Order: sequence, then C-alpha cells, then structure tokens
Amino acid sequence: MKIWQDVASLYQIYPRSFLDTNGDGIGDLNGITEKLDYLSWLGIDSIWISPFFVSPLTDFGYDIANYRAIDPTFGQMEDFQALLKKAHNLDIKVMIDLVPCHTSDQHPWFQESRSSRDNPKRNYYIWRDGKDNSEPNNWRSLSGGSSWEFDELTGQFYLHSFLKTQPDLNWDNPEVRAEIKNIVRFWFDMGVDGMRVDAIWGISKDPDFKDDSTNPDFYGNPDNYGAFIHDRCKMGPHFQKYLQELASVCDEYNDKQMVFEFYPDDKLGDIYHQYSQILTVHPKASAFFMEYRDNEWHAKNIEKKIENYLQSASSTTPFFCIGNHDQPRIVSRLGEERARVLSFLNLLTPGISVIYYGDEIGMMNGELTADDIRDNFSPANSVVDSRDLERTPMQWNDSQFAGFSSAKPWLPVNNNHTKINVDSEKIANDSLLNMHRKLLKLRQTLPILKNGDLSIVENTGNGFILGLKRGLVGQRAYIFINFADEKQSFSVPENAKIITSTHSVNLITAENLQMTIPGHCGVLLIVQ
Ligand code: NOJ
Repeated sequence: MKIWQDVASLYQIYPRSFLDTNGDGIGDLNGITEKLDYLSWLGIDSIWISPFFVSPLTDFGYDIANYRAIDPTFGQMEDFQALLKKAHNLDIKVMIDLVPCHTSDQHPWFQESRSSRDNPKRNYYIWRDGKDNSEPNNWRSLSGGSSWEFDELTGQFYLHSFLKTQPDLNWDNPEVRAEIKNIVRFWFDMGVDGMRVDAIWGISKDPDFKDDSTNPDFYGNPDNYGAFIHDRCKMGPHFQKYLQELASVCDEYNDKQMVFEFYPDDKLGDIYHQYSQILTVHPKASAFFMEYRDNEWHAKNIEKKIENYLQSASSTTPFFCIGNHDQPRIVSRLGEERARVLSFLNLLTPGISVIYYGDEIGMMNGELTADDIRDNFSPANSVVDSRDLERTPMQWNDSQFAGFSSAKPWLPVNNNHTKINVDSEKIANDSLLNMHRKLLKLRQTLPILKNGDLSIVENTGNGFILGLKRGLVGQRAYIFINFADEKQSFSVPENAKIITSTHSVNLITAENLQMTIPGHCGVLLIVQ
C-alpha cells in the first residue's frame, strides 16, 4: 500500500450526493464502494468522506450522536468495512471526517450533561449563567443568531458555535480530549488512513469568555456574525496545544495523516501567520489551503498565495484545494475557462491536490428553489448562499436522475446533467474530466509533480503570466498560466517539452525560448 508521502490527490465525497444504491434518493456507502473503480480509473489515490455516523442529520452528519456507528441512512458497519477493503485493494487511502468540537444535542454525553448541574458529564460542554437577564456574552453562531441557548431544565445557557442542535464540546476538560483521541484510535485501528478535522478554530476559546470586539467595517444588521471581530470566541490560548495533542495520535501508528479545516481570519492578523501556527503543529497534520476562493484573478495575487502557503507548510504536506461542500461550485464562481485553468494549476502544485466530487466534470451550482432547500444553515430557506447549491447529486449520465438514483433525489439534479456528466465526458478527448485524468495520472507517475519543490519563474516579461518551476534531484518542470482573456507571449527559461495543456497544443507556439499561449491557458513543460 502506498504511503501518504506518495499520495498525490484527495477526492472529497459528500455521501448523500454521490450514488444511491438502495433507491431512497440519498447516497450511501455502498454507492461509494461501487464507484471506487471510477475513482481509480480517474487516478485518485485517496478519498475523504464527509460524515456518515449516527446523527439526527440537522447538519447532515456534522451533528454526531454516536461517533462509532454508521447512520442507517448511509448503511451499516459491514458496508464501511467493505468500502475500506476495496479502496485499499485499489491502493486508495480513506480519510473520514472527525468532528471534535461539537456533538449533536442527541449525543448521550449531552443528554447527560443537560440533565443536572452536578452530572459528571456537565463539564463535557460549556455551560454558563446569563448576564443581566441575557446571554453570557455577545458571541454569534456561524449559523445565525447568538451562540448561546438557554436550557430551562437547569437554568443555564450552553454554547453552540453552529446550530443550537450542535453544542460545543469543552476541550478544556481533559476527559473530553481523551474521549476524542479514543474515537480517532477506534477508526485508525479499523484501518482508516486519516482524518479531516472539522472546524478547529473554536477548539480553544477565551478562558474569561469576554465579549468579541465589534467590527467597525461592518454595515448591516448589528447582530450578524460579520458585525464582530472574533477575537475571543476562537483560536484561544490553548489552540496549538490542543491541536498538537490531537495530531499526536498519529505517532502511535505507522502512516496516518490529519488535515484540519481552517479558514484564517484577516481581522485577526496576518493570515499566513495563522496558517503557519497550524501547519507547524505536527508533521502529520496539515490544513487545507482555501485562499483561491476570494477569486482575485491576477497572476501576482495567485503567485503570492501559493508562495506564502508553501512557506507556512514547509514542515508538512500542503493540501491545495479549490472547492468543498461549503463553497459555491468553482465553475459557478469563475466561469468555465477560469475554473478549468485553476483546476490545471491545482493539479500541478506540490503535495496533495484536493478535488470536490463533481468538480472534475465541471458541475455547477444547482438550480434550486426555496422549496428545495434542505440545509438548516440557509436563513429562512433562502436559496442565495445556500450550501445546498454545491451539494446536488453527482452527474453520472444523462438519464432522468443522472444515474445517481432510481428515485427522486433528496436535492434536484441539475438540468445541465444531460451535457455535463461522467459518461459523455469520458468519450470527449478535450473534456475537463479527461484533463483531470491526464494530470492525475502524471502526478502518480512523475514524482517531481508531487514531491518536487516549487519556485517562481521571474522574468517571463509578461505580467499576465504566472510561471512556476518545479524541481526534484536534477529534473525540472515548468508550469505557465495565462490569466488574461487574450493570448500572451512570454519567455521560457530553457528548452523543455510540452507535456500537456488546458488547450489543444496546436494553439500554442514556441520558438527560441518565446512561447505564445491562448487566454486562460495553462501549459506543463518538462526538461528532457
Ligand atoms: C464545517 C463543515 O464543513 C460544515 O459543513 C459544518 O456545517 C460545520 N463545520 C459544522 O460542523
């Protein structure tokens, strides 16, 4: 079995939306197992599956009621074990989601905790008295409103950084830390290869529970999350210590990996300083790089982002990423051409390239109406900004339900599935799917693309061009990306062979170390 050091890609699967094999309109674990052959064909060597544990599903699995059992919606433990076995036979590693900072309110720990003030599990969660007949402080929940919910039974408030059905665990309690580490061991012992760790910014909070500062740059409802600078409710004094403690479980095993979900906050200082705080926590722990999502479409901006993240990640594996189940689809954000060239870039940077299911075929945000919305984070069932837009069923073929299910799916299939689907893109040579496949296979066969270092090619003589040089023991490769709409000419530092491009190579000219490429084109060269 491959070791993490040689893994080149991570494919994120949102299990509700990948493939339904039991005809209830919701994806399941057997569906993932069935499609592992497709992922292997594509050149994927690790997958991350969003939560499938027992849950009332108020946040579709990010509200866990039993960390060690499978929710019947998704299947049974034998199904997961079969998935793991088949993935390993195909040399695909399996990462699952660890949600360490909150549980469901249906979790037995919370049921006990809320039952009385002196219950032994009371301190598993964060309970406080109100202040002046109101919440203990001004902290806001990411799903809207106050982070505090009053519980009649014991007359105190509990903290929930997300929905009120997701009470925050108290990481200052060593028993909680021990429980979560044991959950990690349970899955690692079963053979799971890694953990994507959810929402770690709130793992440590201000011990005095002081108010967050108000945000002077915010104009709008003063109760909104954005109306505050979150200088107290997240990244508290034990932030690194707790992450380090969690990641150190990897030391008990041969080859396990963790990757933290982390969105740095520019209101809290330099974002790359924040990245480096996390990326230096433990050699087996990393953090997704999510900074392309501001859509600043300039060569220089992208160059700086890549450089800064790689510098922060110098002691661990970088995880470059352009989409996930919480962000609008990349094609809907940027348009087809830019999305294609950004995927090209994402597949040619060092470390592990992360692909969100469906992005390899260019899936777009769903065409949903207010009645379709299922995500409880969407304010008043508003379609705008709903995360359901990026969670619609995988488009396998052009049939009624896109080959996802035999029944009406939990979210409508996008109408464009008649054109944008795996089957039709498999046979079109220049499809986005075939571009992914080609690059993923190259990443697997050419170690320079996965483990080679990266430096910037200065002196291309053209500000629209991003030039990256990759190097590994005497080998050299170059990646050039044109950020302009029109074709551009630029200098290349040495003679090298064109290996592949986002466009047909007939559209590229190269002579005397001068190259001309179309608008929004990416090209990969290798020195022979
Ligand atoms: C981040 C997850 O990615 C998101 O989907 C979830 O709602 C929150 N954390 C709460 O767990």
